[in-house]
Amino acid sequence: MGALRLLLLSLSILTITITSMAHNITEMLSGSPDYSLYNSYLSQTKLADEINSRETITCLVLNNAAMSALAAKHPLSVIKKALSLLILLDYYDNQKLHEISKGTTLTTTLYQTTGNAPGNLGFVNITDLKGGKVGFGSAAPGSKLDTSYTKSVKQIPYNISVLEVSAPIIAPGMLTAPAPSASDVNITALLEKAGCKTFVSLIVSTGVLKIYQSAVEKGLTMFAPSDMAFKAPGVPDLSKLTNAEVVSILQYHALAGYTPIGTLKTTKVPISTLATNGAGKYDLKVTTAGDSVTLNTGVDSSRISGTVIDSTPLCIFTVDSLLLPSELFGKSPAPAPAPVSEPVAAPTPAVSPAPESAKAPAPSVLSPPAPPMSSPEGTPADSPKAASENSTSDSATVDLKATTLLKSLVTISAAFLVWAFSS
Ligand SMILES: *[C@@H]1O[C@H](CO)[C@@H](O)[C@H](O)[C@H]1NC(C)=O
Ligand SMILES: *[C@@H]1O[C@H](CO)[C@@H](O)[C@H](O)[C@H]1NC(C)=O
Ligand SMILES: *[C@@H]1O[C@H](CO)[C@@H](O)[C@H](O)[C@H]1NC(C)=O
Ligand SMILES: *[C@@H]1O[C@H](CO)[C@@H](O)[C@H](O)[C@H]1NC(C)=O
Ligand SMILES: *[C@@H]1O[C@H](CO)[C@@H](O)[C@H](O)[C@H]1NC(C)=O
Repeated sequence: MGALRLLLLSLSILTITITSMAHNITEMLSGSPDYSLYNSYLSQTKLADEINSRETITCLVLNNAAMSALAAKHPLSVIKKALSLLILLDYYDNQKLHEISKGTTLTTTLYQTTGNAPGNLGFVNITDLKGGKVGFGSAAPGSKLDTSYTKSVKQIPYNISVLEVSAPIIAPGMLTAPAPSASDVNITALLEKAGCKTFVSLIVSTGVLKIYQSAVEKGLTMFAPSDMAFKAPGVPDLSKLTNAEVVSILQYHALAGYTPIGTLKTTKVPISTLATNGAGKYDLKVTTAGDSVTLNTGVDSSRISGTVIDSTPLCIFTVDSLLLPSELFGKSPAPAPAPVSEPVAAPTPAVSPAPESAKAPAPSVLSPPAPPMSSPEGTPADSPKAASENSTSDSATVDLKATTLLKSLVTISAAFLVWAFSS
């Protein structure tokens, strides 16, 4: 009995460890004026949040001269791509760079998971060159190893390593591909392609599309429910609501500002939506379990199921369920048939913010991470082959990594307990 309780306790501690932030790259670089420009771009592009939400990572940093040369010529969305290719999803310090087996390897970068890197363009070739030099280049065949390792900056072994390199790593087409300006993006076409036709017809017929479009330039994040979400049991009949209520619901599905997945993962406080009309009104709480991100309204919750576009300043996600604001659905009598299948929808004090419990790492509403694929533990989960298939659904390879980590931690702790209680 005691052993079981201890096992459960240790598992929950492990879960907390996994979801808590291990490092703060902004803080790590803040003492190095040589990298102040790079550091500022990590914040502007929100890559800092992505880095902080990951466990095993290497940042190849550029000094101010190299960073300003890159920044001078390109818009922020392209700068983000270039910086993403400098963030390796593995741990490399000075020693490991010089101990690469056979002297050359390919490693996954953040560009592979968050950009729309075709083929293996999100991978980087690291080669231990003669004379102690280490060169980096795109994994695309025929690429030169034009970026060299210059020095080690800082490490928290084996969580995060910061190394300085001479120049950005450029994948073919990365800088030259025209970056569509956010206001040119056809939001409805993208959403229809992503399986959100019902949502599109609603935002068009209510005119909310225009609200979104006018917000795009300053940054916009949308959570588009899939067509299935509108057919789920318990979804209120929107035709029975007033036009103003439907508009509020649709505005509730978007945030002012660019908020990519890494930023959502590191968000601890409730976030305002376009429907927010007062402090604490129409906001959303975010919970993260491994790589799964869930939005909670106080009435229901919805998992983020995919990324339609992530290009500063616009980010569009698909979500599994319609987000029902507690301002409209939290109190009985609801203005429409209340969502019956939702136990949470009971007459709870809708508006009051849920305090500490919102931070609980793994409430049962969260779906478990994807089942692990057949990759031997200990090897880099993101082999070029596995991850090069697609990058629009950026979670697959990462899910695998998180799951592998969780599994090994669980295995270790279980083994430890068995040992502890048998001796
Ligand atoms: C590395 O990350 C793990 C997991 O987040 C954390 O528990 C540990 O304290 C970190 N190590 C250091 C030295 O910060
Ligand atoms: C990281 O550090 C920076 C600078 O010290 C600070 O402004 C920021 O709030 C920190 N981020 C988090 C998530 O703690
Ligand atoms: C890395 O690039 C070098 C030079 O182009 C090439 O010889 C090497 O095979 C590449 N490494 C891998 C693992 O593809
Ligand atoms: C955007 O795409 C829709 C199809 O979803 C099309 O009807 C519309 O004309 C397009 N708008 C522009 C401005 O191209
Ligand atoms: C990758 O994306 C393409 C086009 O978006 C799609 O047709 C294909 O099914 C996707 N492949 C995988 C493995 O998800």
